[in-house]
Amino acid sequence: MLGKVKRKIRKAVSKCAKTEYVTVPVSQGDILKGKTVLITGGGSGIGLSIAKACAANKANVIICGRTMSKLEEARTAIGGNTEAFNLDISDSDKMRDGFESIINNTKFGKIDILINNAGISKGEPFPNTNADDLKEVIKTNVIGTYTLSEVFAKYLISNHICGNILNIASVSGNRPAISPYMVSKWSEMGFTKGFAKSLIKHGIVVNCIAPGPTASGMLLEKSGGDLSYDKSPSGRYVTAEEIANLAVFLTSSMGRMIVGETIYITGGCGTLTFDDIEY
Ligand SMILES: NC(=O)c1ccc[n+]([C@@H]2O[C@H](COP(=O)([O-])OP(=O)(O)OC[C@H]3O[C@@H](n4cnc5c(N)ncnc54)[C@H](OP(=O)(O)O)[C@@H]3O)[C@@H](O)[C@H]2O)c1
Repeated sequence: MLGKVKRKIRKAVSKCAKTEYVTVPVSQGDILKGKTVLITGGGSGIGLSIAKACAANKANVIICGRTMSKLEEARTAIGGNTEAFNLDISDSDKMRDGFESIINNTKFGKIDILINNAGISKGEPFPNTNADDLKEVIKTNVIGTYTLSEVFAKYLISNHICGNILNIASVSGNRPAISPYMVSKWSEMGFTKGFAKSLIKHGIVVNCIAPGPTASGMLLEKSGGDLSYDKSPSGRYVTAEEIANLAVFLTSSMGRMIVGETIYITGGCGTLTFDDIEY
């Protein structure tokens, strides 16, 4: 009997989640006016949606990644004041020069906000993980994100900019870490708190978003708009636009008292349920 009731409630919840996502708007306004946002991996997926949402809120946007053709296409799609630069975050030795080159060449003059979105996933679950996969994922998701944040924090401090760093981790950082990806996302959530503690005295706000399974723009097109995902308590994937709206809020002046937090946006997948994903 209780099972029947539960199923009924779940069906109703899923229906709402499914019908309402199509109308999820990208928030529009001017809450990032005068700010410049640097987004790693801004040429596709969640990063591209964040870039569009920042531009829709009057920010100057700089996207970076490893594939210039993809970034140029994204730059056109974003419109507004957008620039694109090549920056490989897995090459931490070249990171300082890469960031300096962006600062010297951007027409925006300064950068206020860093969104550490770029990330990769590779490798089998433990104990079948191999050292190469682990190193590759850690090099990008952990060392790359950490090093760019360090370079950026020093830039903000020396230029007296009260800026933001926002890390895009994953709800995988909330699950038992059985893959290189999950290990990396635990780490990102941990150093979010460390960075926040070290930087808040300089007026720099650091936070983290932990998305659940998310449909990027491409998946949305392929599925003809059907985002159903039975393993999620909400019955569907999160959309990249939903994550982008949260990113805009957290990096705007409205989010300044949210410090060192990881905000989950999952539809309940990975926060209410834990074994609904296979890695
Ligand atoms: N999609 C999901 O379900 C989901 C769920 C939770 C968390 N996330 C997190 O959200 C973030 C974005 O994921 P996504 O799904 O949007 O992935 P995606 O579509 O694969 O986008 C990742 C972006 O990062 C860039 N990138 C990868 N390695 C890079 C490097 N070494 N240096 C600079 N840029 C690099 C890629 O461009 P290039 O290859 O051209 O460099 C690409 O534009 C990731 O951190 C991911 O862990 C995703």
